[in-house]
Amino acid sequence: METKIFSPEQIKAAAIDLAAGELVAFPTETVYGLGADATNELAVKKVYAAKGRPSDNPLIVHVADVATVKKYVAAFPEKAQKLTAAFWPGSLTLILNLKPNAFSKTVTGGLTTAAFRNPKNQVTLDLIRALGRPIVGPSANTSGKPSPTTAQHVNHDLNGKIAGIIDDGPTGVGLESTVLDLSGTTPTILRPGAVTKEAIEQVIGSIENNHHHVTAEEIPKAPGMKYKHYAPNAQVLVVKEPSEFRAAIAWAAKQELPFGVLATDDILGQSSDVRFKYQFSLGDSLTTASQHLFDGLRYFDLLPEVKLILAQGFSKEGLGVAYMNRLEKSAGQQYFTETN
Ligand code: TXA
Ligand code: MG
Repeated sequence: METKIFSPEQIKAAAIDLAAGELVAFPTETVYGLGADATNELAVKKVYAAKGRPSDNPLIVHVADVATVKKYVAAFPEKAQKLTAAFWPGSLTLILNLKPNAFSKTVTGGLTTAAFRNPKNQVTLDLIRALGRPIVGPSANTSGKPSPTTAQHVNHDLNGKIAGIIDDGPTGVGLESTVLDLSGTTPTILRPGAVTKEAIEQVIGSIENNHHHVTAEEIPKAPGMKYKHYAPNAQVLVVKEPSEFRAAIAWAAKQELPFGVLATDDILGQSSDVRFKYQFSLGDSLTTASQHLFDGLRYFDLLPEVKLILAQGFSKEGLGVAYMNRLEKSAGQQYFTETN
């Protein structure tokens, strides 16, 4: 199948493909999603096949408004009311208990809950309205690879496997949404994102975190947490402090393996007297680093000679919690240490 590239003006054509049970990748403010009509089980099955995604890993249901969520859920708690008023459209996904048979097992992975999200992207909100039904959308990458933040990333992974991609330029946030489980007694963050724990607590009071890195033996709350994620071909080492970069580069230069440096401009500038060949700029702040992290990991994947990536860490505060969650996964929790 030839994958079409749609412009934002071609929403109608994209909606027609979705209505026909085809897959269309769509932009959001976080990362690109791989869209299918959530009410068409055959279409949803194609999502798993195109991504190579394990079938027990449920999909996020993207909606254009809160009213649509209420059609599918067993209850819409007051906390959900408050959070959607505060953060929708935006990067907060809510897990809620479903009415019986609200969606097929293919959408829910057999769970009695579903994850709902109202993305902050006009093109995609119009697309959902044009289809008239919610769309499922995991990140539009091959399973296990970094999430796509441009239409080109999607095309690289899924060209020939899906009907189309709506190109709305690079995404703004660059990291996937915060996933908050509201299906139990205590609201719990299953995946950190741009909507921080502190911001959520300002609206609904104290909540919990459950997004530590799970081992293969544990049964995680969000099925997606157990899979290896965001993994580029090279080994990533996190460099925790900016002051450690010089030592890290000097150490890497001795290994006789081509290596890349993924860091902000100030670090790349300060290290310019140390010789290294491959670099990718994360911009000048935690915000730009979050936008460009996946792009940078993918950049090094196009350079098969690069066997090691030294990547800049940030402190785990605010957006830094989400950034470090993704970076640590891509590194398999490996940090540079002076004794490396
Ligand atoms: O920003 C985002 O959320 C992007 C864009 C495209 O919207 N989507 C995204 O989807 O990241 P995906 O499928 O790559 O990640 C969804 C995560 C997975 O870890 C999945 O296991 C978890 O949410 N999840 C989905 N439904 C769930 C449920 N009912 N209970 C627990 N976890 C769930
Ligand atoms: Mg994903």
